[in-house]
Amino acid sequence: MNEQLLNEFKNGQLESLQVSSLMTLLMEQWAKEKDHEIKQQLLRSTVLRYADAESQLAELNRVKNRFIGLVAHDLRNPLVSIRGLSEILLNDRSDPLSSQQRDFLTTIHSASNSMITLVNDILDMAVMESGNLKLQVRKDSLGRLIRERVKVNGILARKKRITLDQRLSRIPSFPFDRNRISQVLDNLIGNAIKFSSERARVSVSLSRRNGTAIVSVSDEGMGIAREDQSRLFMDFPGLRNEPTGGEKSTGMGLTIARKIIEEHSGTLTVESEAGLGSIFSFTLPLEVRRCQTTEEDPK
Ligand SMILES: Nc1ncnc2c1ncn2[C@@H]1O[C@H](COP(=O)(O)OP(=O)(O)OP(=O)(O)O)[C@@H](O)[C@H]1O
Ligand SMILES: [Mg+2]
Repeated sequence: MNEQLLNEFKNGQLESLQVSSLMTLLMEQWAKEKDHEIKQQLLRSTVLRYADAESQLAELNRVKNRFIGLVAHDLRNPLVSIRGLSEILLNDRSDPLSSQQRDFLTTIHSASNSMITLVNDILDMAVMESGNLKLQVRKDSLGRLIRERVKVNGILARKKRITLDQRLSRIPSFPFDRNRISQVLDNLIGNAIKFSSERARVSVSLSRRNGTAIVSVSDEGMGIAREDQSRLFMDFPGLRNEPTGGEKSTGMGLTIARKIIEEHSGTLTVESEAGLGSIFSFTLPLEVRRCQTTEEDPK
């Protein structure tokens, strides 16, 4: 239609009415093209501004992580001294304390202990967010580590008369970061105890499937509502579950645990239903993939 009008215009065959409709068509075409051009310019400048804001945000995040890391690090040393000195005073038999002094010192000791745990978690989060988590990987026995952590956490379980049992298949030593996996086990076993009522049962199991070690910690506690499960591994998820024995709950443990497991090329998952308990499971590859073996098992 447009082309036909143009040809007729070129050949001088157009009526004045047709000329005006051709002009309208051409104006509309021009307006469309201009509009498209303006929109493209706008889009280009928005993309540029967005990229700029993103790199500024990434830089600010790096500065924030460095700042948090420095503050947490500087807070840690005096806190460790306070905890250590209060421990010495509490255990000093040569100079007996009055019962009030003992109460005060016990409070100082437990408060400094909680603060050290918090500062350690903050340091871990800063390290992990900046992508600087370095694993100290060495061949070790996961079964032996689980038995050790079950024993340590047994003290907390006994306070709530919780039965803590273990079913561990024999699997050969393989490379993993002992301290970091210890931290994951403490959090999972600690959570199972913390969110279960008195006299409940918590079980830890170890098995092996397709070149992977699988550790599960199951409990008969309050469980986690389906709508809360998607937020479980976020920083400070603010879920409605409260510890049953007045224990501390900061909400960083699972985020840190998942990052540690993923750094080992494993996965950390949860199966849970409100009121019916939870099973937290993690896998670890028996062969090293991303991480490096640094030493042989000395035992
Ligand atoms: N076994 C469990 N049963 C019920 N709820 C759980 C269980 N494990 C975790 N949760 C819920 O998930 C939240 C996050 O767990 P996470 O271990 O990250 O934090 P936390 O134990 O509260 O504090 P932190 O580990 O930092 O000391 C908990 O606060 C709790 O609401
Ligand atoms: Mg926890």
